[in-house]
Parts: sequence; structure tokens; C-alpha cells
Amino acid sequence: MSESHDRPCALVTGATSGIGAAFAHRLAQEGFDLILHGRRQQALTDRAKNLESMYGTSVEIIIAELSRGDEIRKVEERISSLDRLDLLINNAGYWEPGLFWEHAPDCLEAMIMVHNVAPVRFIRAALPRMLERDKGDIINVSSAGAYFNMVTLENYGATKAYLISFTESLHVALMGTAIRVQALTPGLTVTEFHSRLGADFTKEQRTWMHPEEVVQESLRALGKGRVVCIPGLRRRAIVKLASMLPRFVYYRVMKSIGEKVKRRWDEIEKNKRLPSRQMHLPAESSG
Ligand SMILES: NC(=O)c1ccc[n+]([C@@H]2O[C@H](COP(=O)([O-])OP(=O)(O)OC[C@H]3O[C@@H](n4cnc5c(N)ncnc54)[C@H](OP(=O)(O)O)[C@@H]3O)[C@@H](O)[C@H]2O)c1
Repeated sequence: MSESHDRPCALVTGATSGIGAAFAHRLAQEGFDLILHGRRQQALTDRAKNLESMYGTSVEIIIAELSRGDEIRKVEERISSLDRLDLLINNAGYWEPGLFWEHAPDCLEAMIMVHNVAPVRFIRAALPRMLERDKGDIINVSSAGAYFNMVTLENYGATKAYLISFTESLHVALMGTAIRVQALTPGLTVTEFHSRLGADFTKEQRTWMHPEEVVQESLRALGKGRVVCIPGLRRRAIVKLASMLPRFVYYRVMKSIGEKVKRRWDEIEKNKRLPSRQMHLPAESSG
């Protein structure tokens, strides 16, 4: 990407598909130059070319497996080298079905690397320049799962809850500057998040949000200075309701819903060819 000083620049992690791709599309439309991160080189290259030809935006791509420290540092070094970064979106993420003790310890650690270590290091790399310019926005894509201590969300939900707490603390620390931060907590959204695990939720997806709607709500909330954005009225109501339940009732509800989800995923796993447990083990190298 050629660094032009008059166009804003945004870096989006996990921009190959879903919410990250929708952010990339929307920001290109709004005149941003982009640095897009992902793991699938071809898909990301195609997306970059498409955005360049549609909007005349300049797009750089970075391929990195964010469960690996050396690959996280590749992105981090690029961020540190930037003269300007107007918007950093930590979006890359995934979920794996199964109970905490069924996952390999390395898989559990890999998720913490992707959801927490990478965003922390990227924000730490971006902030000095943002503070110098007194300009910059940061969006951390968490999940509504952060609010629900549901069976199968033990590690995932905790990594996403970390992002909310971290973002709110950053907001407090940055008050008095022009830097805005947001924790975005989408609920079920039609992306490759579930389909890449071999699930077909075509029927259920009729009630899910679309990534463009999530992006729309996030950017609108950022404009209004909202620190935590839960897209969708119904989802906001569910989160609120869950927080009002007596804790012992809440735990039972989480157990019961989570077990239903688990049974559904056990069925999906039985029927598919690829063993998903191996999908997110740190890869040797991804280019
Ligand atoms: N969809 C939902 O229902 C939902 C709900 C709540 C929260 N979220 C959150 O939304 C964010 C975006 O997910 P999505 O729904 O848009 O799913 P998606 O379509 O599967 O996109 C996930 C993105 O993250 C990247 N990614 C995944 N694992 C990675 C790793 N180990 N290292 C580097 N990059 C990795 C993927 O890269 P490649 O494709 O190149 O591998 C892809 O670009 C995630 O943080 C997710 O937790 C999603």
C-alpha cells in the first residue's frame, strides 16, 4: 500500500470473510485505504483487487496465523511502522464446539492468542502514534457470547469478555483524548463462522443478523461515542434479561441451553468428514 497522507487508513484483521470483509467493504466505500489481514491468501487477494477496482482504494494484505507469536509480530511491526492509522479493527476470531476439557491444551491457548494476545499487541503498537496525532479509533470485535456463561463457551466466552473489559478500561484511560474505542458484541451473524465448521444453519439463519447490519450499527455507535455496542434490539434485550436473572436461575438456563447447543454440534461433527478439533492448531507456517 502506498502511504498517502490525505486518505485515512484502516487495518482490519480477519477480513477474508464475514464481519471483517463487511467492514473492509464499508470502509473502502467511505474512502479509507486498507490493510487487510487474513490467512487465506487467494481469497484476500481477490477481495483486495475487487475493492481497489470498485472504489479506487489502495489495499495492502498481510497473511498471518494469529495463534502464533512470530506471526502476530509481523502484523504488530507493520502497525508500528505506519505513519498514520486512523482505525484498527481487531476482528479475527473463531469458535470451536466442545467442552473445555475436550479441547487439546494447545487449542485453548491458540484461542487466547488470537482473541486476546494479538489485539493487545496490535493496540499497544498503534497507540503511541494515535496519541501523538490525538486521532484514531479502535474496534475490538467481541461477542454476545461474552455475556453468557454457556456450556461450550467456556474459553471462547472468557476471551471475548476480556475484550469488553479491556476496551472499557482503555476508554477510561483515554478519556480527554480524541481516541475512541469500542467493544462490538455481535450475536449470531450469517458469516463463515459456523459454516467453516461444517454446519448448515440455513433455516436458523433467517433470524440472524447480516454482517453489513452489524458493521452499520458498530460505526453508528462509534460516531455516538458508545463504548460497548450490542447490535440488534432483540439481542440487547436478551443480554439485559439474562443479567437480571437471579444467578442460580441463570446458571441453570446456561447449562440447559448450552447442552442443547452441544448435542446439535455433536450431531454435526458425527456427520461431517473433517475433524474440526484440528482446524485451529497453530500451523507451521501460513505464508
Ligand atoms: N458469526 C457470528 O455468529 C459471530 C457471533 C459473535 C461474534 N463473532 C465474532 O466476529 C468475528 C468475525 O467472525 P465472522 O463471524 O466474520 O467469521 P468468519 O467469516 O469465519 O471470519 C473470521 C475471520 O477471522 C480469521 N481468523 C480465524 N482464525 C484465525 C487465526 N487463527 N489466525 C488469523 N486469522 C484467523 C479468518 O481468516 P481466514 O478466513 O483467512 O482463515 C477470517 O478472516 C470473530 O471474532 C467472531 O468471534 C461472530
